[in-house]
Amino acid sequence: MFRKCLTSLVQNTVSVGTLTPKATEFLRRSVHNGSLGRPPKILITGGLGQLGIECAKLLRSQYGKNNVILSDIIKPNDAICESGPYIFADILDFKGLQKIIVDHQVDWLIHFSALLSAVGEQNVPLAVKVNIEGVHNVIELAKQYKLRIFVPSTIGAFGPDSPRNPTPNVTIQRPHTIYGVAKVHAELIGEYYYHKFGLDFRCLRFPGVISSDPPGGGTTDYAVAIFHEALRTGKYTCYLRPDTRLPMMYIEDCLRSLLEFMRAPSEQLKRRVYNVTAMSFTPEELAYKLSKYVPNLHVTYQPDSRQQIADSWPEVFDDSEARRDWNWQHKYDLDGLVDYMVKDVQENYINVENGQRRASAKI
Ligand SMILES: NC(=O)c1ccc[n+]([C@@H]2O[C@H](COP(=O)([O-])OP(=O)(O)OC[C@H]3O[C@@H](n4cnc5c(N)ncnc54)[C@H](O)[C@@H]3O)[C@@H](O)[C@H]2O)c1
Repeated sequence: MFRKCLTSLVQNTVSVGTLTPKATEFLRRSVHNGSLGRPPKILITGGLGQLGIECAKLLRSQYGKNNVILSDIIKPNDAICESGPYIFADILDFKGLQKIIVDHQVDWLIHFSALLSAVGEQNVPLAVKVNIEGVHNVIELAKQYKLRIFVPSTIGAFGPDSPRNPTPNVTIQRPHTIYGVAKVHAELIGEYYYHKFGLDFRCLRFPGVISSDPPGGGTTDYAVAIFHEALRTGKYTCYLRPDTRLPMMYIEDCLRSLLEFMRAPSEQLKRRVYNVTAMSFTPEELAYKLSKYVPNLHVTYQPDSRQQIADSWPEVFDDSEARRDWNWQHKYDLDGLVDYMVKDVQENYINVENGQRRASAKI
């Protein structure tokens, strides 16, 4: 209600010109990013996966702990429960979601629930349900309740007919995985609802996202697993060929791109779907950088069914439109990424496990 009044206040003041241009711009921007008076109330679906927990941390640091609700169908651990509001939300349950949106007065919906590429190929009917029917539910609810909705897409939304180096923002998209097909569907239905109903739909196509948290079964997961394996054992068996080039991004860049994109004023956006990326590398190049920290690192290559998926995806992602329209800039290149990942996995996983082992040996 307050925001509705504010919107009309801004519109009126612009027309009657009672505020200075600077003050008007401040008010207008504040309405767009939801930071005036009442921060946006944000619901994250599929929030216990690789991106959701870190995304909640970032959004809570900006909008307050209680304004960001994590949700999923998984039982959370104690740390999640202590970190802020967590609720059960099955995206296939339309009425249940509707109740959550009403009860919690949700303004922004970050829709992360999905079955990723490799997992989706193993259970196509479930992938159709979660990745297509689930998107229908959240898009329709976002329309009904006038929410700003973010749905991530992926490099997997392209296929073997797409130009692979570089892959531009608008080009042929004929993916060969159910994951990719569902993401193209999400992009198109979101754009359709934007044109038809004015839905504030926003979508970024992410490359492989790298973080120390365990990934959820994607084709780019090797770039996370290699750090855990190599730092523990000095060895790694990669399921992709050494020369498989794929676009990638460190999680901090990925989530900052999401936040900046969500905050961007609507009129700045020339599109509703943008490519974003930071770098492109092969397993061989990553292993070479990692060998500076693990001198006797031994990597072997045993390509499996994920090779075929990777061979149909972009090698280099062209995100120049995001850089032009809303000033996207990545921070982490390959050197920065490896440096951070080594420290993170060592301190937060390996040292913790070693500490626990020592403690239990003493008991
Ligand atoms: N991680 C990446 O590298 C990457 C890259 C590009 C795009 N994306 C997209 O970002 C989003 C988040 O990715 P992620 O890596 O965190 O995925 P993830 O697999 O780690 O997490 C997905 C979550 O969805 C939940 N989920 C499954 N079925 C559900 C249902 N019926 N109701 C509610 N939740 C359900 C799962 O429990 C899981 O916690 C996905 O849409 C994915 O396609 C991720």
